[in-house]
Amino acid sequence: METTRTLGRSGIEVSAVGFGCWAIGGEWQGPDGQPLGWGKVDDEESVRAVRRALDLGVTFFDTADVYGTGHSERVLGRALGRRRDEVVVATKWGNVFDPDTRTLTGSDDSPEHLRRALTASLRRLGTDRVDLYQLHIADADPERAARLRDTCEDLVAEGLIRAYAWSTDDPERAAVFAEGPHCTAVQHALNVLDDAPAMLRLCEEADLASVNRSPLAMGLLTGKHAGRAPLQEGDIRARPPVWLRGFGAGTGADPEWLARVEALREVLTADGRTLAQGALAWLWARSPRTVPIPGFRSVAQAEENAGALEKGPLDAARMAEVGRVLAGG
Ligand SMILES: NC(=O)c1ccc[n+]([C@@H]2O[C@H](COP(=O)([O-])OP(=O)(O)OC[C@H]3O[C@@H](n4cnc5c(N)ncnc54)[C@H](OP(=O)(O)O)[C@@H]3O)[C@@H](O)[C@H]2O)c1
Repeated sequence: METTRTLGRSGIEVSAVGFGCWAIGGEWQGPDGQPLGWGKVDDEESVRAVRRALDLGVTFFDTADVYGTGHSERVLGRALGRRRDEVVVATKWGNVFDPDTRTLTGSDDSPEHLRRALTASLRRLGTDRVDLYQLHIADADPERAARLRDTCEDLVAEGLIRAYAWSTDDPERAAVFAEGPHCTAVQHALNVLDDAPAMLRLCEEADLASVNRSPLAMGLLTGKHAGRAPLQEGDIRARPPVWLRGFGAGTGADPEWLARVEALREVLTADGRTLAQGALAWLWARSPRTVPIPGFRSVAQAEENAGALEKGPLDAARMAEVGRVLAGG
């Protein structure tokens, strides 16, 4: 298949899979002690995984200033090093945090904070521009967000960002950003267990890329949670906040979600794909605008996820079969 896709109307070309850098930020928490990371990570392994991804043709990386309260951006910047110009770097702003205690303290939707946050992200990433800058307040007030959109246009003119997006699951909010000429994507949840037809329609109408967070349903679509292995302390999935779908408080993976993964296993792993690769292949077949950004924490995961590229999208017959399985047929 084409192993690259275009990021909406910007014309920016990226590998059809991007790498999501939330987990490699390590541990951090909410004001109430709620874990917001994925447990402990080994930074040297994260660096090796990013470099392996580069060697396998991955040219798109998604992070956020708040992941590990700055740590993810620093690790990504270090891993990319001199190869930074080979890739498209996406990061996000909108959250406020204390790096000393690795704690999220709130959010700030002001244009002044936007400029401050960008300066800090550029420093941590070791770069002079962000390729795709994303608003990380999913439910921000649309009128206030319109001011941020206009500030993003100024930042494009100043050469500090190339394009921007809103990270939100609400198509009406995404449409507010889409009015800006350099808005080129929306980042939203999408995977074979959790479709988003209204958002994909907007992407089609407004010529936006659909950047897919949680493409593996936070690991459920790798199949490894079927044995219900205990999750690490400090892993958000071990104590899921209300918005997190597919994991229950103290119970690990939700049995109903697991049952659907098992029902899909055969069709997704046909044609020699692993389950994770089948989940990515479903996303590519779902729309030509999708760019999944699976998370990773090891070289082995990087190889498996990047390895999906050469296998391409599911064909029409397999897509129809997925539809039948999900409909209970
Ligand atoms: N904008 C937002 O608000 C938002 C929200 C969520 C995510 N995101 C972005 O989207 C990215 C991906 O979404 P996500 O982190 O929610 O989850 P995901 O991509 O659905 O799942 C990723 C997790 O699955 C496991 N995994 C990945 N590849 C694997 C493989 N080949 N074999 C076995 N396990 C594998 C890893 O965790 P374990 O090894 O620990 O199981 C990994 O962290 C994030 O990194 C972030 O960049 C953005």
